Amino acid sequence: MILVTGGAGFIGSNFVLDWLAAADEPVINLDALTYAGNLENLASLQGNPRHVFVHGDIGDFALVAGLLAQHQPRAIVNFAAESHVDRSIHGPEDFVQTNIVGTFRLLEAVRAYWSGLDAADKAAFRFLHVSTDEVYGSLGKDDPPFSETNPYEPNSPYSASKAASDHLVRAYHHTYGIPVLTTNCSNNYGPYHFPEKLIPLVIHNALAGKPLPIYGDGQQVRDWLYVKDHCSAIRRVLEGGRPGETYNIGGWNEKPNLDVVHTLCTILDQLSPRVDGQPYREQITYVTDRPGHDRRYAIDAGKIERELGWKPAETFETGIRKTVQWYLDNQAWVSNVTSGAYREWVGKQYGEQK
Ligand code: NAD
Ligand code: DAU
Repeated sequence: MILVTGGAGFIGSNFVLDWLAAADEPVINLDALTYAGNLENLASLQGNPRHVFVHGDIGDFALVAGLLAQHQPRAIVNFAAESHVDRSIHGPEDFVQTNIVGTFRLLEAVRAYWSGLDAADKAAFRFLHVSTDEVYGSLGKDDPPFSETNPYEPNSPYSASKAASDHLVRAYHHTYGIPVLTTNCSNNYGPYHFPEKLIPLVIHNALAGKPLPIYGDGQQVRDWLYVKDHCSAIRRVLEGGRPGETYNIGGWNEKPNLDVVHTLCTILDQLSPRVDGQPYREQITYVTDRPGHDRRYAIDAGKIERELGWKPAETFETGIRKTVQWYLDNQAWVSNVTSGAYREWVGKQYGEQK
């Protein structure tokens, strides 16, 4: 079996659902259920004996050590993290605690477990750390996309904490020999994406008749990947990746934010037109920019394609349409996750904007 951490969040829950749909191998899913973790994402697995959910923190050494001893996983996929850049600007502490200290303690529990395995199980074991392209910093307009050899230049407390965790993972390979793999992926979108991030926030606000907030001039560029393509890339790296290596994952889909928001508005105009017949674009509102906002991310996904034969299945056009349709079909999910604490966050982040 495998141990997945953070498997009740956006990417983790998509990964667990896809894994169990594709293979018989059971999953132990360890998640602290922060504001971003939601068991409703996994509702279709209720009663499935191949999915064991454990409510807990990756930083709880005793808990993780006990899980490893009990279940003897052949691999760990570490999604657990604080993941939202804007929240890291308001409050970096949680990011340091989970992304750095939590990953360190998880690695310590893994080191103790892995050291006790016999030679064959040691060689077959994998620790796959899910990281981000944000660790490479910001690109200029004409710079080549990030490759695995780009230096780390993180600019936000979020990306700095992820960079620190990547360094720890690397060090546990070089120092102790643990067979680790690190993936650095670009911006994901798709089902179960929490509506604090650009794409689900815009869909949610558009349908609710609220402003669609564009930070600064809206010309910042992100490289978008449909979440299920990220999940298939992780499965491929887990299967065939070389221990100690890092793999960049991206969709070759660089888009300025304003173009993404225009695309969302156009699709919504077609699938769920406003009752007054006006276009959703009318709701676009320019707001104060994110401090230290990275201008451009772009991923060179050549290594994973050459070495492991992975390519995304979705284009941005097909993936974004599926995503909008998913949100239209799952309004109950959206209502549940946007109550209570979510409103406090929106007040804090957007209420302060001019
Ligand atoms: P998310 O915020 O939606 O989910 C994070 C999950 O981790 C939640 O279920 C949360 O409850 C859990 N968690 C948080 N702290 C924990 C702790 N201490 N112990 C156990 N569980 C904890 O994040 P996501 O967007 O699904 O991202 C998953 C991973 O992928 C993160 O490591 C992130 O850095 C990375 N990543 C995300 C993107 C993206 O576009 N969303 C892109 C590249 C990489
Ligand atoms: O690149 C990978 C990263 O992508 C992941 O590591 C992060 O976990 C994930 O959150 C994401 O980070 P971003 O900061 O790029 O994503 P976000 O959806 O927050 O913002 C996307 C772009 O849209 C960014 O340039 C900021 C802008 N934006 C965002 C919000 C929430 C707006 O203009 N308005 C908004 O209201």
